Amino acid sequence: MQLSDIAVISVLCESFQEQTYIVHQKGNNDCLVIDPGLDDGAIAETLQRSRLNPVAVLITHGHGDHIAGIPVVKSLSPSCKVYAGELDNEKLTDAHKNLSASFGFDLTVGTADVLLRDGAVLELAGIRIEVRHVPGHSKGHVVYYIAAEPKGLLFSGDVIFRGSIGRSDFPDGDPAVQIPAIEKQILSLPDSTVIYPGHGATTTVGEEKRTNPFLYIAIFMGIFGPRVGQGPLFDEVCQYHELDKKVKTLLQSVIKKYQPPRPVEIFILPDILCTALADADFADSAGDLQKLHDTWFQK
Ligand SMILES: [Fe+2]
Repeated sequence: MQLSDIAVISVLCESFQEQTYIVHQKGNNDCLVIDPGLDDGAIAETLQRSRLNPVAVLITHGHGDHIAGIPVVKSLSPSCKVYAGELDNEKLTDAHKNLSASFGFDLTVGTADVLLRDGAVLELAGIRIEVRHVPGHSKGHVVYYIAAEPKGLLFSGDVIFRGSIGRSDFPDGDPAVQIPAIEKQILSLPDSTVIYPGHGATTTVGEEKRTNPFLYIAIFMGIFGPRVGQGPLFDEVCQYHELDKKVKTLLQSVIKKYQPPRPVEIFILPDILCTALADADFADSAGDLQKLHDTWFQK
C-alpha cells in the first residue's frame, strides 16, 4: 500500500489532550476510528463533515481518555465493531480499571466485539493493519501498524510519545516490561515509520531511537537484554550523539560500576552520573561525564 493512498485526520480531544485518529483510504468512505476520546462533538463533527463511515473502532488500551468516544461512533455507525487487546477488555466496563473513576467521572462502555492478540492482522476499510502487544503502560496495550511505502504508520497510544514514554506506575503498569517491549515491537520497525501517539505531536521511530532520552539511555545502559554498552543500537546512538571512543569507554566503565538491577532504574540515571562525578575513580573524566549528563537531560 502506498502512504499517499492513506489519509489520517487528527481530532484533538481537549480535556486530556488526547489524539483521536480517523484513518481511511483516499477515495473510500469507510474509515477506522482509533482511540475515540472525550470529545463527542469534535469526533462526530469531523466524521460528518468528512462524510466518512466508521467500520471499526480500534482501541490501543482501555484508559478512559481513549475509549470515551466509543458510544458516539457507534451511534453514528451502529454496525461498526470495536477492537481491543484481549487483556484490556475488562477496562471498558470498569470505571476503576479504566481510571475514569479517579478523575471523577464513572465511564463505562460496552465490551469490545473483537479481542486482539499480538500478531493479529486485520483487513478493515481496505487497509491491512498489524497488531503488536506492548505492555507496560497498560497490560493489554496494543499498537497498530500499517505497512506502507515509502514509510509505514504506527498508532502508538500511550506507549511512546515524542521525547517520552508512557507512565508505567498504574496498577497494571510495569516498567520492567515496558522498555524491552518498546524495543521488540517498535524500535524493530523501519526508522522512517511515522508514529502517531495518543498525546502530542507525531514523530518517527528513528527520531525516538536516537533522541528520546528514555530510550537511548536504556540503550546505553544495556537494558535491552544482557548487552551492557554494546550492540548495533548502542553504536548507532553513540554515533548520532557524536560520542568518541574515549567517552564511550568512560560510559561503559560507569555502566559497569553502577549498573542498575532493573529497567525502572533508568529514571535515576541523573543520580548515577552525579555519583560518578563525585567518585574519585572518575575524577579525571569529570568534564566528559558532565557533558554526557547535560546532553542526556538537555540542560
Ligand atoms: Fe493511557
